[in-house]
Amino acid sequence: MTGLLKLVDVTRLFGGLRAIQGVSLDVHEGEIVGLIGPNGAGKTTLINVVTGVHRANHGQVYFRGADITRAPPHRIASLGIARTFQIVQPFPKMTVGENIAAGALFAGGADSVAAATEAARELAERVGLADVFGAPANTLTLARRKRLELAKGLAMRPKLLFLDEVNAGLNPVEIDDALALIRTVAASGVTIVLVEHLMKVVMSVSTRIVVLHHGQLIAEGEPQKVVREARVAEAYLGKRYAAALGGN
Ligand SMILES: Nc1ncnc2c1ncn2[C@@H]1O[C@H](COP(=O)(O)OP(=O)(O)O)[C@@H](O)[C@H]1O
Ligand SMILES: [Mg+2]
Repeated sequence: MTGLLKLVDVTRLFGGLRAIQGVSLDVHEGEIVGLIGPNGAGKTTLINVVTGVHRANHGQVYFRGADITRAPPHRIASLGIARTFQIVQPFPKMTVGENIAAGALFAGGADSVAAATEAARELAERVGLADVFGAPANTLTLARRKRLELAKGLAMRPKLLFLDEVNAGLNPVEIDDALALIRTVAASGVTIVLVEHLMKVVMSVSTRIVVLHHGQLIAEGEPQKVVREARVAEAYLGKRYAAALGGN
């Protein structure tokens, strides 16, 4: 497997709080990495550090061998890293099509407005938003806003895509649809890091699971193996679950 993203001993502080702490992690081409951990574990911060929203206080981030630790967000995006936001934030008054096209222009995925609009049309089709292409983004349901987030990310033509709780708030049918979409995106050659609360989803789609707890990476590996580890079950599911699982 080819190394795509590498974090070496990365720490990010907010005042006295260590949001992530000494995290080292490799993501390889073709993986779907499930990034899990309780609220406040540092999952979104990790994405923010990789995408240049927040700088690491310590440690290095490499993408395809290049040091991007101090690179600004637009450069990181143009190198091929995209992300969705946990709190969906489309440009509310712009149309669905314009939102997606903006993603294409931001990361240099398209070099003209016409090309960006054309790419946006194809992506809207792909994520099931073709019928609302001309509608203002703020008229969409939550499930469709989540799809719009995904389309904006894909418009950047990423090699690596972070999905931050794209299934939160969706009903079971919408989640199944979203999962099918994630699998299609992965099959098209995009490596994915998926932050997700629903264990069922993480277990069904991830090729590897990484667990953060209090900013530290406490376990990683093949999904079945990771969930059986008692300390993961404790951190993530609570002590009673851990006891019920009889983890080792
Ligand atoms: N911009 C910020 N300023 C101050 N504290 C922050 C900021 N972003 C995150 N934190 C804190 O860092 C910790 C990790 O947060 P976060 O990365 O959002 O966790 P998760 O996504 O795993 O729920 C939390 O204690 C959170 O309050
Ligand atoms: Mg988060």
